[in-house]
Amino acid sequence: MPAIEIKNLCKTYQKSKRSSEKIALQSVSLEIKKSSFFGLLGPNGAGKSTIINILAGLVNKTSGTVKIAGIDIDENQQQAKFKIGIVPQELILDPFFNVRETLEFYAGYYGIRKSQRKTDEIIEILGLKDKAKTASRSLSGGMRRRLLVAKALVHNPEILVLDEPTAGVDVELRNQLWSYVKHLNKTGTTVLLTTHYLEEAEELCDEIAIINHGRVIANDRKENLMKILPGKELIISATSEIIDDNLRGLASKRLAKDKISITYDPEKIEVEEILRILCEHKIHIKDISTQQPDLEEVFKHLIRS
Ligand SMILES: Nc1ncnc2c1ncn2[C@@H]1O[C@H](COP(=O)(O)OP(=O)(O)O)[C@@H](O)[C@H]1O
Ligand SMILES: [Mg+2]
Repeated sequence: MPAIEIKNLCKTYQKSKRSSEKIALQSVSLEIKKSSFFGLLGPNGAGKSTIINILAGLVNKTSGTVKIAGIDIDENQQQAKFKIGIVPQELILDPFFNVRETLEFYAGYYGIRKSQRKTDEIIEILGLKDKAKTASRSLSGGMRRRLLVAKALVHNPEILVLDEPTAGVDVELRNQLWSYVKHLNKTGTTVLLTTHYLEEAEELCDEIAIINHGRVIANDRKENLMKILPGKELIISATSEIIDDNLRGLASKRLAKDKISITYDPEKIEVEEILRILCEHKIHIKDISTQQPDLEEVFKHLIRS
C-alpha cells in the first residue's frame, strides 16, 4: 500500500472578488511509496501547494481521489490526518500561544496522552529550547519555520510533508532540518517535499515528480530523470595552445586558447576513445574534468519542452 495515492486530482479555484476562476490541477495522479523521499517540483504557480493543502484538508478538491496511508480522505479525513504531518508554505501560527503551548495544544488535538507526548524532545531537536516560552508572534521567520516543523511532528506521523520548508531560511537551519528529516526518513517516515532549490531535491530525494501548469510532466526515480539529457562534458586544459580543435567526429567547443570542452554521449563513445583522438591531434592534457547535467538542467529541459 502506498503512503499517498492521488488519482485524477483536479482543482479549480472559484472566481472571487479578488481573482477570476483558476484551474490549478488537471488530473494529477501520483503514487508516493512508503518510506520514500519524494520530491514534488515545479515552477511557481504549478500547483504544488494546492496538492499539499488538499492533503492537509485545507483546500477542497474539485474531483479525484486521495488516499493517505490507504484512507480515502472523502471517507475519513479525520483518521487520515493522524497519519500525516504537514509543514505548510505559509508561516501561519496562533500568534498568542508560545512555542510550548502551541505544541501541547496540537498534541491535545491529536488526543495524545500527557505521558506519551514528546514536546520536550521535539523542542530540543528543533533548537527551540531558548524560545520555548516565546509567543509565536515574536519569533523570527526561521524560528517560526522550526515551530511549524515541530508542530507537524507532535503526533509522530508516518508521513511528513514539507512545502518549501527552506525558503528564506538560513544555512544552519537548513542543514539541521535536513539532517533531522533524513534521520526520520531512514527510520521509516515517508517524506514528501516541495522545494525550488533543485540541488536540495537532487541530494535528498529518491523519487521525483515535476508538475507544470497543474499537470504531471515527469515522475520517476531520480537516477532515471537524470539520464533524460544524454550529454556529458569533458573539459580539457592543454599544456600549450590548441592549434587544431577540429576533432574528428567530436562535438568540441573552444573555451580558451589552451582549453576546450567536448560534449559526448557515454552510451556511444568511451572516454578512452576521446583521449586517443586528442592524442592524435597532439593535444597534451594538463588537466581534465567532467561535468554532467544536473537536476536543474533536466528540470529546465522538461519545463521548456
Ligand atoms: N486560494 C486561491 N484562490 C485562487 N487561486 C489560487 C489560490 N491558491 C492558489 N491559486 C492559484 O492556483 C495556481 C497554483 O498555485 P499553488 O498551488 O500555490 O502553486 P505552487 O505551490 O506550485 O507555487 C496558481 O495559479 C495560483 O495563483
Ligand atoms: Mg507553493
